[in-house]
Amino acid sequence: MNRIFLASLGVAAALATGCDNGNQSATTTTTTDTVVVKITPATLPDTAAFRDTTSAQATALYILKNGHAQAAVTNYGARLVSLIVPDKTGNPTDVVVGYDNINNYEHLPDTYFGAIVGRYGNRIAKGHFKLNGKTYTLPTNDGPNSLHGGTKGFDAGIWTGKQLSDKSVQLYYLSTDGEMGYPGNLQVKVTYTLTDSNITNHSYFNLNGQGSGTINNHLLQLNADAYTPVDSTLIPTGKIEPVAGTPFDFRKPTAIGARINDDNQQLKFGHGYDHNFVLNKSKDSLALAAIAEGDKSGIVMTVRTDQPGVQFYGGNFMKGTNPIKGGKKDDYRSAFCLETQHYPDSPNEPSFPSTELKPGQTFRSTTTFSFATK
Ligand code: GAL
Repeated sequence: MNRIFLASLGVAAALATGCDNGNQSATTTTTTDTVVVKITPATLPDTAAFRDTTSAQATALYILKNGHAQAAVTNYGARLVSLIVPDKTGNPTDVVVGYDNINNYEHLPDTYFGAIVGRYGNRIAKGHFKLNGKTYTLPTNDGPNSLHGGTKGFDAGIWTGKQLSDKSVQLYYLSTDGEMGYPGNLQVKVTYTLTDSNITNHSYFNLNGQGSGTINNHLLQLNADAYTPVDSTLIPTGKIEPVAGTPFDFRKPTAIGARINDDNQQLKFGHGYDHNFVLNKSKDSLALAAIAEGDKSGIVMTVRTDQPGVQFYGGNFMKGTNPIKGGKKDDYRSAFCLETQHYPDSPNEPSFPSTELKPGQTFRSTTTFSFATK
């Protein structure tokens, strides 16, 4: 692969405790024997559309730029709103799904587009866990389970934003003792940095451009020999099973949709892919988690992380009912998420790596998303 390094977005979280080129409108003109495709380059959303002063704390949009790429981050849920990188022809392509204004983030049903999710990314069975002999009860918002921190998780909080430079923004949130049922005050700091050389973040990627149709033809490679199978409510059974011989084997680059309709109980429970993969151990502090490639754009995204797992979610609950940037819709399976994380329901699974954070302890986590073209 001829890889030209474009940009990389690093997301670091420190917790006191986690083509048809879509956004480009393509018009096609047919002449006798040539097809001319005019593509409108993706642009950043309007910052004024992200200002809401009706709450105690105002919302805003922070812009990050380097020589090759641009990003936009809002302090509402510390969300990545846009990430624009060039495709193989140099055309600026927005590879993350998002809305054009704050109102949609605040008022449409929560999709977690681009958000930092917490206090606990993914599910806790039946909204209960025990810590030091005491049972804690969380609001349930996903069938019988508690998902992504409950009814008002970090994704719906207004964070304090500070632009550190033209390439970096830092966001701060204080989750108080008892908020959404979790014990202890938790100070959360997230830094998004756009670098030239190089959280669970819940960005929905479409490497052909957000809103450009199915992601099932994207190639995906996951650095995972095993995954954590789930029950019908997507809670891990506690087993760690090999991916070999199953539709969960992405150890070699494979089209996301190649086996999605296989007769497989786990795919039925997930309505497609919605599973935690156990990342292979590595000596590097930032180990390879995944490589994904847009079939039309040639944009290749590499994800590295210091976390033990990654939730690969294939956009199975996208319904095409939300109006995303550029007049598009969030169509079924038109984006995927790679959420680096600890395994779901860890507080109830003693054999999973622990997610307990004692008072005074600091939890740090870094994930990088790097972009190149093929
Ligand atoms: C994922 C989760 C999915 C779905 C999605 C948001 O992290 O695993 O089941 O809830 O978030 O729609």
